[in-house]
Amino acid sequence: MDISSILQGGYHHPLSRSWQGRRQLTKSMLMYPIFITDDPDASDVIESLPGQKRWGVNRLEEFLGPLVTKGLQSVILFGVPLKCIKDEKGTPADDPAGPVILAIKKLRELFPALYIACDVCLCEYTSHGHCGLLHDDGTINTAPSVDRITEVAVNYAKAGAHCVAPSDMMDGRIKGIKQGLINAGLGNKCTLMAYSAKFASALYGPFRDAAGSAPSFGDRKCYQLPPSARGLARRAIQRDTTEGADVIMVKPALPYLDIIADAAQLAPDHPLACYQVSGEFAMVVAGARAGVYDLRTMAFETVDSMIRAGATLILTYFTPEFLDWLEN
Ligand code: PBG
Ligand code: ZN
Repeated sequence: MDISSILQGGYHHPLSRSWQGRRQLTKSMLMYPIFITDDPDASDVIESLPGQKRWGVNRLEEFLGPLVTKGLQSVILFGVPLKCIKDEKGTPADDPAGPVILAIKKLRELFPALYIACDVCLCEYTSHGHCGLLHDDGTINTAPSVDRITEVAVNYAKAGAHCVAPSDMMDGRIKGIKQGLINAGLGNKCTLMAYSAKFASALYGPFRDAAGSAPSFGDRKCYQLPPSARGLARRAIQRDTTEGADVIMVKPALPYLDIIADAAQLAPDHPLACYQVSGEFAMVVAGARAGVYDLRTMAFETVDSMIRAGATLILTYFTPEFLDWLEN
């Protein structure tokens, strides 16, 4: 055999196998998505999202304390109001007594070193369940949507969020929010993480179930990207970098590794996040339960693929498991 045809000598040992990745998963790359509801004592099981719950503000210490001890460094908050009165503008989104703002303040107090990101969207708070404000005919009304989303983002930042992450997909919101943060004197105190390439995916099902955020009519195809749209995704990534995003995100992750790789090339000077969304998580868990593969092996395979494609930050519901698995 020829000298150059022998590759196995380079990876016969676990250590030399670990050298084959340009980067490896570390705890600081994990951001844990958590659901905060408005019953302060809640710890409600979410049927479609194995192991995840809707938490009340009074339960955050018992929920996150053990994870912080294991090395949890960041969370992203999703508000799940069950009692509020929703309207067409999503007024409850930044209610000072609402679950998100209360949770930001509580977490800052409980865990001073924990990095707190907040998802910013209106769909959990609008009567129609869409992510922006609508015209009478049901289409997106862009300018007031951007204004309202900016207002919410700035109010989360004022409450102490280290990062705001708009997932609404309205055109121009990155520029609007960046300017809003600057105007509020928070330009240098809050990270703007853009869900730049967010696709209209079937994989959000369990999340919509958990958050009660399914649209009451129609779908999100006029603002989330078509799954086939590589060019649009590339344009959205470039646009958001020029509009002032500090972090670029691709979502979902596993079916969009090519987009992650594109983002790594288009925005090489930005941190690159990807979101292993609810349906991806549920799928990996379901496969393991069906005996298709070992859960831990498959979870690592999915996340290692994202890192290989170029991700430097992973939003995943597997975060608690990874904190254990990275220990041994
Ligand atoms: C809402 C939002 C969604 C997710 C994050 N923010 C759902 C959607 O756009 O319908 C999905 C997260 C997940 O599935 O884990 N703007
Ligand atoms: Zn939304």
